[in-house]
Formats: sequence, C-alpha cells, structure tokens
Amino acid sequence: MKPANPQDIENSPEDNPLTHWSDGGLVVIPTETVYGLAADATRDDAVAKIYALKNRPSFNPLIAHVADAQMAKHYVQWNDWAEQLSIAFWPGPITLILPLLPHATISALATDGGDTLGVRCPLHGVTLPLIKAFGKPVVAPSANRSGRISPTSAQHVREEFGDDAPLIIDGGACTVGIESTVIDLTDEVPVLLRPGAITQDMIEAVLGVSVHLPHQVSNEQVRLKSPGMLTRHYAPTTPLRLDATQVHAGEALLAFGMHVPGGASHIFNLSMHGDLVEAASRLFEGLRALDACGASRIAVMPLPTEGIGAAIADRLKRASAAE
Ligand code: TXA
Ligand code: MG
Repeated sequence: MKPANPQDIENSPEDNPLTHWSDGGLVVIPTETVYGLAADATRDDAVAKIYALKNRPSFNPLIAHVADAQMAKHYVQWNDWAEQLSIAFWPGPITLILPLLPHATISALATDGGDTLGVRCPLHGVTLPLIKAFGKPVVAPSANRSGRISPTSAQHVREEFGDDAPLIIDGGACTVGIESTVIDLTDEVPVLLRPGAITQDMIEAVLGVSVHLPHQVSNEQVRLKSPGMLTRHYAPTTPLRLDATQVHAGEALLAFGMHVPGGASHIFNLSMHGDLVEAASRLFEGLRALDACGASRIAVMPLPTEGIGAAIADRLKRASAAE
C-alpha cells in the first residue's frame, strides 16, 4: 500500500470538495466513464480555470453534471425524449443535449456562448451525492490536458497534471472507461454526436424512433450543431477589429492590461493585471457589454496567445468572422 497522497480526499476543510467548488476552485471527480475536471457550472471564473489547466486551444462546450433530472430541469428545456432516456439510463453514461433555458445561470464560457447545454447524471457512489450536496451542476471535461487520452484512474490524473493537479477524489478505476454517449435532442430527430456505452440501438429501443448519425443529417443541420460553429454561438453584431493598438473614431475598446490606448467611446478591460485566466472568464461579458453600447466597431487589443490565450484568440477570431 502506498502512503496516502495529500491530494486524496481527507477530512480537513481544505480538502473538502464542496469548499473548493464554493470558492471557485477545481476538483477532479471520478465517474463511471472517465475522471472529470469539475467546477461550479454557474461561475465564469471557475470555468476559466478548467480551460487554463487543460490548455485547450478553444472553448468547446462542457457537460454539466447533475444529481438527477430534477436538477437538470432548472437549467435546460426538458422534453419527452429527455424524460424517457433519463428514466432508462440515468444515472449512467449518456449526455443529453437540450436547449438552455433563457434565464439559466450557467456560465457562458461553459457553453461557449451557445444556446444548448449537455447534461449528464454520472453513476458514481461518491460523485453523485457530492453534486447533490453542492446543489447545482458542475461542468467537467475529461481530466486530461488537451489532445491527450482521458484518465480512468486517479493515478492517471496525477501523472497528467503533476504539481498542477487540483484536489483529486480517488474513486478507484472507472468501470466504463470511455466517455459518455452524447445525444442531441434539440431537433426533430435525435442525433448521436458521440458513441459510447449506451448504444444507438439501446436509445432507439427506448425512444421508438430512429436515431441519426451526424452524416445522415443535412449539411446545414450539422453546421448548426457542431460545437463552436458561430450560428449557434454568441457573436456580437458589432464588427470586431482584432489586434488593435490604437482606437479609431466611433470604436469601443476591449482592453487587456494596464497600458490602454485612449479615445474609445466605451472600454471593457478583460484584465487590468494582464491575467489571461481572468480575461477568459470575462470575455463573453465584455463582448456583450460593448456590443450593447452602440459603437460602430469594437477594437480588440492584442492578447498573449500562450496557455488559455490560444482559446481566447480562437474565440475572438470566430466572433470577428461572423456575418
Ligand atoms: O463521460 C464524459 O462525458 C466525461 C465525464 C467527465 O463526464 N466528460 C467528457 O467531457 O468527456 P469532454 O468535455 O471531454 O467531452 C464533451 C463532449 C465534446 O465532444 C463536446 O463537444 C460535446 O461533448 N458537447 C458538450 N456540450 C455540447 C453541446 N451543447 N452541443 C454539442 N456538443 C456538446
Ligand atoms: Mg475529453
């Protein structure tokens, strides 16, 4: 037996996952599929830390992990298919993509500014009661750095993050070992976006309708569905001008850092201290605020592109390409 790892769950308050979540921190949670890197789904600052630690080059939408269907219904527009699938398979390895409720308090960073949310109720004896006790969803991608394989043991997570590892709850080896099935229930036909342990046949048997694969859906529909595509994701209606070092007449300014050029009608500073994690957490708020202020254009100051800066740059590029 190895000595207890200090990052394992213990009884002291600083190792209480609920305290970490309440403080906007990250906790690695075991699930039946893979280990997840989890944060309070309603806080931009907490969600930004996930992207920063994973080093993700873009803000893919994250799955909100709920304690039960009741909790999910506070955040997404429930429908008959969701009811049937949740009765059949929850808690278990299937994620349901549903329309986000208009006033849901989910972080815009977690949905990449989109209007849908993936909800999933994990089958795990430690994690499920924890989410119930927290009282709101936690978003969690697989607990690996971007581009690497998903971890199925606490040891994998420790190896993956080394000294950067947040609190890890060791729940043993994951029983399923592959990521959850992802099914989109926002359209006339259910679309299987990611295969998993809950198979197409199993879903069709429950719903009594045929489930489509992405290639069976029209190009237009796929374009609308693909995570990260602008049509479904927030983009300002005011044009953006990237890498601006000066402000032109009539422009609002999305600023970063202490040294800000003058002349803007309105300024939103993503991070006065030049902190990229803070900048990511305030990105959607800043775009919305400046979009609403009536400027003819939004000038965006250059930001460093290392770490989470790459995801910010990707998001700004897509927002500036919007028609
Ligand atoms: O088993 C799992 O699902 C694990 C554990 C931790 O729960 N989580 C996981 O998360 O695999 P992640 O972020 O590595 O993968 C989530 C997948 C991505 O392919 C993402 O594009 C898709 O789900 N997804 C999430 N929200 C979506 C949405 N609103 N619309 C379309 N696809 C979505
Ligand atoms: Mg993953």
